Amino acid sequence: MKIIIVGSEMTPFVKTGGLADVIGALSRELAALGHDVVTFLPLYRAVRDKIAAAPCVSNNIRVPVGGRSVVGAIYELPVAERQRVVFVRQDEMFDRAGLYGEGDRDYADNAARYLFFSKAVAASIPALRFVPDVLHAHDWQAAFVPLWWSRTLAPAWRLRTVFTIHNLAYQGLFPARQFELTNLPPEYFGVKGLEFHGQLNLMKAGLLYSDVLTTVSEHYAEEIQTKEYGCGLEGLLRAHRHKLHGVLNGADYEAWNPRTDRHIAANYDSHSLANKVACKRALLDALGLPVERAWAPLIGMVSRVVEQKGYHLVAEAIPQIVTMGATLAILGAGDPKLERQLQELARRYPTRLAVKFGFDEELAHQMEAGADMFLMPSQFEPCGLNQMYSLRYGTVPIVRATGGLADTVQPYNPGQQTGNGFLFTAFTTEAMLAAVARALETFRQRQHWIRAVQNAMACDFSWRKSALQYLSLYQMP
Ligand code: ADP
Ligand code: GLC
Repeated sequence: MKIIIVGSEMTPFVKTGGLADVIGALSRELAALGHDVVTFLPLYRAVRDKIAAAPCVSNNIRVPVGGRSVVGAIYELPVAERQRVVFVRQDEMFDRAGLYGEGDRDYADNAARYLFFSKAVAASIPALRFVPDVLHAHDWQAAFVPLWWSRTLAPAWRLRTVFTIHNLAYQGLFPARQFELTNLPPEYFGVKGLEFHGQLNLMKAGLLYSDVLTTVSEHYAEEIQTKEYGCGLEGLLRAHRHKLHGVLNGADYEAWNPRTDRHIAANYDSHSLANKVACKRALLDALGLPVERAWAPLIGMVSRVVEQKGYHLVAEAIPQIVTMGATLAILGAGDPKLERQLQELARRYPTRLAVKFGFDEELAHQMEAGADMFLMPSQFEPCGLNQMYSLRYGTVPIVRATGGLADTVQPYNPGQQTGNGFLFTAFTTEAMLAAVARALETFRQRQHWIRAVQNAMACDFSWRKSALQYLSLYQMP
């Protein structure tokens, strides 16, 4: 098949979260399965140096954005056999320090930026010498592509459009007056179109005007049809459930494999767990925590510091977790208020809690390898990648049973010695602490702990399976 993938971030070029891992790995896997893949990305400042050699294919991609006619260029980078990445350049919009904003402020012109990007993608396809069978757009930033495609090119060119929701909490909401930037007739701004409680909702373009809808786990596909998780779109999603599918993300084991990981102190697998202890000592040392306490259980967290990830539960629970004898290491970046709160706690417990703020790929790998347990008390989690990485690193996950966490982690059962982690259901500090207590108790029983670690390391979430599921949706009659 000839497949076009569109998203706003992609490893190894630019990443703020799991979306980048998914676009990177899915593109690569589909090409490895013998399909031709072109992935579209905006040409951000952070990307520029990495693609200096990419030739310009066209410098005259012209699309309307409201009253303006905006010109962009496209650059094409071959990355593997059958795989290319096409970067859409528009310096006024994308040559900036951030992707979506700076500090905790979104850029004021995000609607114009991603409408331009989406329209430019559709307008670029004829320049690629490539007749696509499938157009697969991801998240609100690319949600407009299928709709614009069908309005501008579809009559001459049939293809299947697929839209994937990675996180329903980010819908691309803008003031109603910005509807004008879509260049759609006014009838599209209604409840049955892009209007959402008086605002412009760009994600709705993907939900309503794609042939197939997917989200990143089966559990989340069910959850988003309920009031608790639907973010106001549950009714619409229920109405479209016939075309909604849950496809669990894979884990990129080329990047996340303790046997080959170049970022960690010692490589290991389930037969050489002594080297995992070496990783733990190196991590404690790097974080300024006492290495002589390496015998104590170490709980790691790596994630965006936002409410979704359950940080306020963690902040509230830290004194008790410390009393229970564990050490905690947190790597994240995000909400300044939550960051200050964690910083304050780290000052109170300097030998028991280390927090690092910022985006640090290398430290993220060292945390996966060096921690004993990995905590993800998410309020909602469409899929979650870190728990899958943790499993591979024998770092036993403690998670809230929601979304993809519920689909990948099963409770350790000492009787049968089955299960790969610890779960809780209620989104409360008490419920989380009870799961942490169960994990710490099991940690003290060496036989059981080693079994849980081995069960975790034996799990396989490789991308092949997910890519094959997407292919069958691409090909579905
Ligand atoms: P989300 O996409 O909601 O942030 P995921 O679990 O799907 O959550 O993916 C998060 C990805 O981002 C993982 O690859 C994780 O290692 C990475 N990550 C998150 N925060 C940081 C950070 N501060 N430094 C390095 N990597 C991070
Ligand atoms: C989103 C979700 C996360 C998911 C990722 C990749 O950022 O929050 O759960 O793993 O997308 O699909």
